Amino acid sequence: AQKADSVKYIKAGRFVDVEKGRVLANQVIWIDHDTIKAVGSTIVIPAGAKVIDLSGATVMPGLIDCHTHLTSQPGENYYEDIFRKTPVDMAIVAPVFAKRTLEAGFTTCRDVGASAFVDVALRNAINRGDIPGPRLLVATLFIGSTGSHGDLNGFSPYIEWVGPKQMSGVANGVEGVRAQVRYNIKYGAEVIKFGASAGVLSEETSVGAPQFTQEEMNAIVDEAHLWGLRACAHAHGTIAIKMAVKAGVASIEHGSLLDDEAIALMKEHGTYLVADIYDDDYILSDYAKHGTPEKIIAKERLVGREQRLSYQRAVNAGVKIAFGTDAGVYPHGWNGKQFRYMVKFGLSPMQAIQSATISAADLLGWKTKVGSIAPGKFADLIAVKNDPLADITALENVPFVMKGGEVVKNELGVK
Ligand code: ARG
Repeated sequence: AQKADSVKYIKAGRFVDVEKGRVLANQVIWIDHDTIKAVGSTIVIPAGAKVIDLSGATVMPGLIDCHTHLTSQPGENYYEDIFRKTPVDMAIVAPVFAKRTLEAGFTTCRDVGASAFVDVALRNAINRGDIPGPRLLVATLFIGSTGSHGDLNGFSPYIEWVGPKQMSGVANGVEGVRAQVRYNIKYGAEVIKFGASAGVLSEETSVGAPQFTQEEMNAIVDEAHLWGLRACAHAHGTIAIKMAVKAGVASIEHGSLLDDEAIALMKEHGTYLVADIYDDDYILSDYAKHGTPEKIIAKERLVGREQRLSYQRAVNAGVKIAFGTDAGVYPHGWNGKQFRYMVKFGLSPMQAIQSATISAADLLGWKTKVGSIAPGKFADLIAVKNDPLADITALENVPFVMKGGEVVKNELGVK
């Protein structure tokens, strides 16, 4: 923010108006420091003013990924990562991942689970301007029951995370989960993430089983609300999804096994679906090579395709959709690869763009700051040469990125 100390004007040949769901020709975006001052076709650019000429490109808001884990990504070896890496390793690589994500066009992320408050340190360093990265809304520790997706499973009882308070958010019982929510908030959580069901990339057997009681889920969400925060639930299984929706989460993450009742409940409660529907490709093609146990890959085979069909049914029923990819399951910076699936399984290209801009901002509670190119919001925007409304894969390689009025990537050759 300190470096963006100038007024500038962007000429946008095509401008994606995500609020109204339309594309406008030849708009001028007036930027003052890190903020958008005005947008329109009649803005007069003063002589000698700084102009960024994107009249040959499509300009749209910076993208938002509502489900990232910027502190890790798959390494060479599954067990190596578990046994030989510490939060210090994560802290060293997180800035690299944050930069890649920003350069992929994602100017904001909701980071939903990290060890040892590395996400808080990362967010703070980015906000200070020490390192480049997206704006982050962070969850800190994933809250899960003993033996859940949020715990370390499948090993001897002699092996467990040292300093469990820092490494994991394992908590049980109404009192226990309330205490864990407070602990997370004390050290920087801005959203509360918990495991409503089991998971894929952990060693519990049943991917769909609920891992908290209804009372525990209610307590987590209620406690988050007391502190003015929202909660989101990792949930693959149908029963767990319904329990989390009833508890009042803002979003269901994954949402792999939706039935009609779950979809109806999500509509009734206005719950967002954040479905990471690209991951299946990467897990099935790459994870076995790196020593991931077969039982984990088998779980992916169970849910991966089902998840896409669940997503499709949810889209058709009109469930609110926000873009989230579980980046960190696949290499950071590839976030845009999910767009083609968002479209293949039901959204129009405009709706897919809205899911990663205005709707995502709504889910984060950041609509006044990000999510569209509008007066008073941060000057976070991207530009692509081709028309993403004609071919959504244009968003897989974003050549121009501005965050807070500063150009962070410019491969369009514009001055
Ligand atoms: N973190 C998630 C889990 O382990 C990843 C699920 C990926 N698979 C999928 N089909 N989306 O449960």
